[in-house]
Amino acid sequence: MAMTKNEAICKLMPYDQLHLLHFYDKLSDSGKEQLLSQIESLDLSVLDHLNSEAEAKRGKFEPLGALTIEEIKDNEDKFREIGLNAIREGKAGCILLAGGQGSRLGFEHPKGMFNIGVNRELYIFECLFRNLMEVTEEAGSFVHLFIMTSESNDIETREFLEENKFFGYSEEYVHFFVQEMAPVIDEDKKILLTAPDAVAMSPNGNGGWFSSMNRAGLLPLLQRENIEWLNVFAVDNVLQRMADPVFLGATIDSGCTCSGKVVAKADPNERVGVLCKEDGKPSIVEYYEMTEEMITQREPDGRLSYNYGVILNYLFRTDKLMETLGKHLPLHMAHKAMAYVDENGVQQNPEKPNAYKFETLVLDMIHMQDSCLAYEVLREREFAPVKNKTGVDSVDSARELLIKNGVQL
Ligand code: UTP
Repeated sequence: MAMTKNEAICKLMPYDQLHLLHFYDKLSDSGKEQLLSQIESLDLSVLDHLNSEAEAKRGKFEPLGALTIEEIKDNEDKFREIGLNAIREGKAGCILLAGGQGSRLGFEHPKGMFNIGVNRELYIFECLFRNLMEVTEEAGSFVHLFIMTSESNDIETREFLEENKFFGYSEEYVHFFVQEMAPVIDEDKKILLTAPDAVAMSPNGNGGWFSSMNRAGLLPLLQRENIEWLNVFAVDNVLQRMADPVFLGATIDSGCTCSGKVVAKADPNERVGVLCKEDGKPSIVEYYEMTEEMITQREPDGRLSYNYGVILNYLFRTDKLMETLGKHLPLHMAHKAMAYVDENGVQQNPEKPNAYKFETLVLDMIHMQDSCLAYEVLREREFAPVKNKTGVDSVDSARELLIKNGVQL
């Protein structure tokens, strides 16, 4: 039995969200039950964030150099051997972040199910599995792959991968876990309804992946299998290299507790988050947080001081992640378009952003680490994000890059 209407009123009133019960009296019994159980499980503490100013305060930024492509090339054999040995000893695991809604792409299934092929079927998931299998074939051993889904795309994702037999990957090395959801608010800070009996919810960002793994009971598996390093990456970069042995070897060799793949900025004003230091700790400064002085500052060798943009491919040491459990990540607000029912019960499908989602971000986990290796990769080889339908970071641009890298479409 869900909570009663009176209990729902007591929960919603302090947060000024009583409008969620606007249609309650007209609902069927099952609709009433559904709405009340959703309200019961809502975590309204995210709304407290609206009144706090914690997010805005940043520390003192300083540049962080990278291990450059040339330096990596000079040491490639050594790094590769360290990395391959670690993979063979089972020390590396992969985390595929696939819980996002992909609202910019406007594809109504999980993004990994998008067919990026032209003359043949080539799903995004397939690209990723193939890239990973290049490594596992070279190493001669599989790597545990943990896939984060959300409540809204979990079943479809599992069914799709099972039907496609994990594109040849070993099923016993694939594990799923589901991330949490958060309520979505409008511009007046009111939680939206997607139907008279349904509260608008969205996945709570990619930053909570390790605590979601913990909630799903997966940490004992990491310990049992002795997985010392976790490689976290996004679902939507079709040129993504996972469990890259050279990256892993360089990270282990560096002694850093985490690392991130970075690409040199195409121009000083490029809109990317840059790996740097903040109050002496590794951090990522967003392009809109940089002063003009930071944007144009250069090192003695002529390179931009804030030169290395992140591409959402990070390595974390598992023991150091354990220490971060229970620590709070900052909440960010993402302005997005979201369908809803208005106070007259009429469905609205806005094209422009009308709603705010609450998200934690994986990049904030970097700042919880003591040291981070910035590892430079070639953009044209490793970064082909599928964010939009057309234009920048789109299906078109990703297809072009796949072809340039010899992938038949
Ligand atoms: P994005 O920040 O691009 O978000 O995700 P998105 O939801 O996929 O797309 P838009 O912004 O609505 O168009 C970057 C990576 O983080 C994952 C995504 O699946 C993608 O791999 N992600 C994002 C999650 O796993 N969970 C989330 O809650 C958000």
